[in-house]
Amino acid sequence: MTVKIFVPKDAAALALGAERVAKALAGEIEARGIDATIVRNGSRGLHWLEPMIEVETPEGRIAYGPVKASDVASLLDAGLATGGNHALCLGKTEELPFLKSQTRLTFARCGIVDPLSLSDYRAHDGLKGLERAVTLTPADIVAHVTESGLRGRGGAGFPTGIKWKTVLDTPGARKYIVCNADEGDSGTFADRMIMEGDPFVLIEGMAIAGIATGATKGFVYIRSEYPHAIATMTQAVEIAHRAGVLGTSVLGSANAFDIEIRTGAGAYVCGEETALLNSLEGKRGIVRAKPPLPAHKGLFDCPTVINNVISLASVPIILDKGPVYYKDFGMGRSRGTIPIQIAGNVKHRGLYEAAFGLTLGQIVDDIGGGTASGRPVKAVQVGGPLGAYFPRALFDTPFDYEAFAAKDGLIGHAGIVVFDDTADMLKQARFAMEFCAVESCGKCTPCRIGSARGVEVADKIAQGIEPEKNRELLADLCNTMKFGSLCALGGFTPYPVMSAMTHFPDDFSPAPMVEAAE
Ligand SMILES: Cc1cc2nc3c(=O)[nH]c(=O)nc-3n(C[C@H](O)[C@H](O)[C@H](O)COP(=O)(O)O)c2cc1C
Ligand code: SF4
Repeated sequence: MTVKIFVPKDAAALALGAERVAKALAGEIEARGIDATIVRNGSRGLHWLEPMIEVETPEGRIAYGPVKASDVASLLDAGLATGGNHALCLGKTEELPFLKSQTRLTFARCGIVDPLSLSDYRAHDGLKGLERAVTLTPADIVAHVTESGLRGRGGAGFPTGIKWKTVLDTPGARKYIVCNADEGDSGTFADRMIMEGDPFVLIEGMAIAGIATGATKGFVYIRSEYPHAIATMTQAVEIAHRAGVLGTSVLGSANAFDIEIRTGAGAYVCGEETALLNSLEGKRGIVRAKPPLPAHKGLFDCPTVINNVISLASVPIILDKGPVYYKDFGMGRSRGTIPIQIAGNVKHRGLYEAAFGLTLGQIVDDIGGGTASGRPVKAVQVGGPLGAYFPRALFDTPFDYEAFAAKDGLIGHAGIVVFDDTADMLKQARFAMEFCAVESCGKCTPCRIGSARGVEVADKIAQGIEPEKNRELLADLCNTMKFGSLCALGGFTPYPVMSAMTHFPDDFSPAPMVEAAE
């Protein structure tokens, strides 16, 4: 029987040499006359073990990693094709503690299926949600999503069902589904992993959103820095179209839905939903004032659903297994699971999907394994460049939208970046201001001017110039930005700045400048 060997073609694995591994493997297999086929799968999300290759055996898949091209010959010598032992053998994939302890609902297929095989997708429960959706009324689909408690995974945590209901209830000759795949937050890669590892789940989620709201056209706005995701999504849309999953009659129903892939414009602010709409319309990516909400007047002034990749990719399982199944996971008003992205100075970097409710300490210390440098953890930034820095004293905070907000933080897109005790939090605060100054769309003064002034004030503190006065000035600037900015770029930049100043005051009290001798 032909043996299946899986070598990921996910961008993270490729960056670590997966292409060279695949080529070496193909060459050796042919030279040795081994009856094996190489499947290019998505990543399982254990990034510190990439490229992690797997072989299918009667006992399940056996994993090896991290594999270099130069390891391939010895792996085959050791009987890789039958799951043979080798120094790089990690054992059964499903038994790896990092994977075994996860609750994979949205990422259930990622790393398991051939991303561009629709039959593989079907064989692993794909399209069941859409098959159910075409038997329901739009209002029933919206009710399912509302009942599931799903909230937007792009950052704001807005209830997805309510957004969809607004679009359903708004009349319009055309309506649109826009998938936000700009994924600009530091330390995040969940959207990319889904698009590269299980693109059909996003297509299915978008088609369900279209049927639920009366939209017949969808756009996926993917950041230009994701060429592999763009290529995979483009091919997946073509395949779905040919198979009748998309088109004038979705799965043979009376519903039409089609998808176009668009490449982003390379600005962080283009991830903000109204700037994204401008960018999609071919205009400069500048934020629009709200109201009108995109749900009322969005793309080309039509009612538009804008959702993050993970929000949309979470919908098929809700339709398939029912809202109660999904809602049963989680805590408080944070229902279901959240794909946490663990990055920065941490031993076990990767994607960990779990029900809401794990504490930050569990994520960083137990799952992440502490810092890669082996030094003590100093701070963890949660929620991207606009997220707060959490000190160890706040590690008992559960991963839950409200719990994080209560500690002046945010979950955002669930990216966490770990820093050890060598981090200088004043520099991090300055970086937040600088990032905002560089990425500001320039529409409003508190953000455009405030961030530039913020950099100057941080520099003065670092130079020991009137530190007390300048700390007060920085806090005052933050206050103005927080309450005076039009969108969350200017409005949330104060979070990393103020959390750094509040939790790490020593870093904001450098030694006073010594006056030069006369
Ligand atoms: C500066 C800025 C950047 C953003 N970047 C993204 C992004 O890259 N991806 C995303 O899904 N949402 C991003 N958002 C949030 C979106 O504006 C919007 O809330 C989201 O796409 C809605 O989808 P959801 O309800 O599914 O989360 C950003 C917001 C701001 C203010
Ligand atoms: S806060 Fe910044 S990014 Fe947002 S609208 Fe104002 S200037 Fe533009």
